[in-house]
Amino acid sequence: MTVSEGRVIVTGATRGIGRATVDALLSRGGSVIGIARDVDALGALEASHPDRFRGVAAHLENIDQLPAVARRAVEAFGSVDGLVNCAGIARYEPVGSIRPESVEAQVRVNLIAPLLLAQAIAGHMGEQGGGSIVNVSSTLSERVAELTTVYAATKAALNAITKTFALELAPLGIRVNAVLPGGIDTDMLRTPRVLPGESLSEAEIEERVESQLAALSALHPLGRLGEPAEIAAVIVSVLDHTWQTGSLVTIDGGLSLR
Ligand SMILES: NC(=O)c1ccc[n+]([C@@H]2O[C@H](COP(=O)([O-])OP(=O)(O)OC[C@H]3O[C@@H](n4cnc5c(N)ncnc54)[C@H](OP(=O)(O)O)[C@@H]3O)[C@@H](O)[C@H]2O)c1
Repeated sequence: MTVSEGRVIVTGATRGIGRATVDALLSRGGSVIGIARDVDALGALEASHPDRFRGVAAHLENIDQLPAVARRAVEAFGSVDGLVNCAGIARYEPVGSIRPESVEAQVRVNLIAPLLLAQAIAGHMGEQGGGSIVNVSSTLSERVAELTTVYAATKAALNAITKTFALELAPLGIRVNAVLPGGIDTDMLRTPRVLPGESLSEAEIEERVESQLAALSALHPLGRLGEPAEIAAVIVSVLDHTWQTGSLVTIDGGLSLR
């Protein structure tokens, strides 16, 4: 049995890339433990796959609760073969307007939560003879874009964590890799980038989002943003590759070529 046909925890399971990963795993016959805040969305997934989906509602900024979240996730089906750390947040702020609270939120969700969840779940995987962890990073961990100082820093740190975990956990049969997407059409990119002091009407917000999406699409040599399902397919394949560990796997429509 491959990891993706087994029992896999997915954070950020309710929307975007995480939700597409849940769908991909379920369609392969796997069982999924989804972690996110939206209780209704988790409940709907449980209702549609009562035997193979369990939701664990959690706010990943609450790092004190992560050991309990990890325990509940493992107990949902009694064991775990894979972990996909997909939940993430981006706060677009120019230098000069970076707020401590947005630094803290991004560090907690993008860095501390995946680190502590991976550590806790790896303890369990080690006892059962191995497993596979995929951290969802970003091409912004390696390329520079305005307004993304803190987000990029958290993803660069996640790459470093991925490699160190991979080295330390290899003797236990636990593989740890990262997937680095380019621009993907999800809520994250549809959040309007509003600069400090700017106040936009609803029509202007809509226009701002459309121009953001057009500008981002044009940056990709393949001429469009990626779809969540295209990233989910890579996440599933990396979860399953039995001789791959410590890799940073870029999937970005050619964005990194620029
Ligand atoms: N979209 C892109 O262009 C892009 C590019 C490169 C990398 N990425 C990375 O890909 C991953 C997924 O991004 P996405 O675009 O799919 O994002 P998204 O559509 O905004 O979805 C984010 C997911 O994370 C969950 N989440 C957010 N904050 C949370 C918190 N505090 N506690 C628990 N769950 C939380 C959300 O669930 P709830 O709202 O239910 O909590 C949601 O399921 C992220 O790590 C992101 O950095 C995205």
